[in-house]
Amino acid sequence: MEKIILINGPNLNLTGDREPGIYGKINFEDFLEELKTYFPKIDITCYQSNIEGELINRIQESMLEFNAIVLNAGAYCHTSVAIGDAVKAIDIPVIEVHISNVFAREDFRHVSFIAPNCIGSISGFGLDSYRLAIEHLVKM
Ligand code: DQA
Repeated sequence: MEKIILINGPNLNLTGDREPGIYGKINFEDFLEELKTYFPKIDITCYQSNIEGELINRIQESMLEFNAIVLNAGAYCHTSVAIGDAVKAIDIPVIEVHISNVFAREDFRHVSFIAPNCIGSISGFGLDSYRLAIEHLVKM
């Protein structure tokens, strides 16, 4: 795994400011710098969009450019058949991540249209969920 893209969905651009009791106080850009230092041999790219179709475009394009995707689709994970289908359509591994433990939250967050099409899901470890996903991908 040389090239990995992190794809973040809606509201994840607000990480650090948004509901800090749930999502923590660290902003994603700062965390991304730490992550790149932690995995110096991996080329890590990050993309964020609040728009479902843009996320689908990026997932499709990623197949041509990257070896794997770490995907936090935010709330779209619980609603988007289309993002689930995009993940199914591509032939690079995708790991679903969540900052919060979605299973300890409202019932509607217990459903994922993405997880069945991923190699695995990681939820509840704060921003460390992303590092744990990459930890697995580098072993593949
Ligand atoms: C989230 C969990 C989702 O339920 C929520 O809608 C998000 C963030 C997480 O990372 O914990 O926006 O994906």
